[in-house]
Amino acid sequence: MFSAVDVIRTKRDGRELSSAQIDWVIDAYTKGVVADEQMSALAMAIVLNGANDREISDWTAAMIASGERLDLSGVGKPTVDKHSTGGVGDKITLPLAPLVASFGVAVPQLSGRGLGHTGGTLDKLETIPGFGVSFTNAQFVAGLKNPGAVICAAGQELAPADRKLYALRDVTGTVESIPLIASSIMSKKIAEGTDALVLDVKVGSGAFMKSAEQARELASTMVKLGAAHGVRCSALLTNMDTPLGLMVGNAIEVAESLDVLAGGGPADVVELTVALAKEMLTLAGQPDADPAAALADGRAMDTWRKMVTAQGGAPDAPLPTAAESEEVRADADGVVGTLDAYAIGLAAWRLGAGRARQSDPVSAGAGVELLCQEGDHVREGAPIMRLHADDPQRFAAAKEALDGGIEISSQSKPRELILDTIS
Ligand code: URA
Repeated sequence: MFSAVDVIRTKRDGRELSSAQIDWVIDAYTKGVVADEQMSALAMAIVLNGANDREISDWTAAMIASGERLDLSGVGKPTVDKHSTGGVGDKITLPLAPLVASFGVAVPQLSGRGLGHTGGTLDKLETIPGFGVSFTNAQFVAGLKNPGAVICAAGQELAPADRKLYALRDVTGTVESIPLIASSIMSKKIAEGTDALVLDVKVGSGAFMKSAEQARELASTMVKLGAAHGVRCSALLTNMDTPLGLMVGNAIEVAESLDVLAGGGPADVVELTVALAKEMLTLAGQPDADPAAALADGRAMDTWRKMVTAQGGAPDAPLPTAAESEEVRADADGVVGTLDAYAIGLAAWRLGAGRARQSDPVSAGAGVELLCQEGDHVREGAPIMRLHADDPQRFAAAKEALDGGIEISSQSKPRELILDTIS
């Protein structure tokens, strides 16, 4: 017989939770027997006192067991997914999923919506007229067979304990905990049924993890969890001090992804897309595959068009644009030293690209278009970014968010995009 108060006291006093206590508390919380206030006390005790590898593994297993675990064996091809811990301008899933699928590997990509200053893949894709993100399991498997990539929302039955706990953590100051973040992400990915997974763990001002040490610990915790549950995993640690690419928003990020699929696009977006594709294809048994060639010769674009069509979208339809725009200009001559990811993510959010609550709508055309990147030379008065919004009253708050986030200096600092690989 267990009691929620005993479980909370165990963790509050810095002791280890037993496997049976963890199984019970997750199951009882999912069923509503353990109340929200009890689970939030336990989550806070974990934030403050941590959890060891065995507890994290049990916690993850219990969250997987709270719902269904998809069986993708009927797909008939290796399956490999990518998960990013979230960043600003991170549109990599859009070119990456069809790129990897163009090598005959299936990419089951269950994605989320944006919250706060980070964008969400589903919000971006839904700006393509007709694009749908809700599918049954049978439709999901059919899309993985052909065209090979599906980017959609997770069903209600996938790790329901995490769905409930994540919403609670969001409003109780208990998101920032490596055991809770690792088990949250990995329970959903393991339940999704993928054979292999590449993690893109972001580090920097626009990421959850502000230091490389924290990010490394999160990455290795997740890689170990994957291995314990039979999912081959590796992780890249990547820089999120400045946005990826030039576009931060929804439709404008789709447009930039199309440039990458057409063989162009900003160098940083291409570099990360190719590096993650290499890692995914290696886990899928194709270490010698050349993803850069598939971007250059149109194979990835062909698969993108098939994927968009299969999900009900019109690949040639014009993308929505915002009604109004306003430029931000350089206040001095020099080199762009800082374009801060958090400030720009917040500005895009205030322009209407993001939401404050999960139920809010987003503006398809709103966002920040960078006209330069860190390291570029600019002249005083030259435009350095263009803000897009449906409502011009949003420009003032967006500019306030940018205060202190843009620095013009006399010399550039080197930017290393891929900081480490963990496998
Ligand atoms: N993303 C998740 O899915 N869970 C977390 O806890 C943090 C980010």
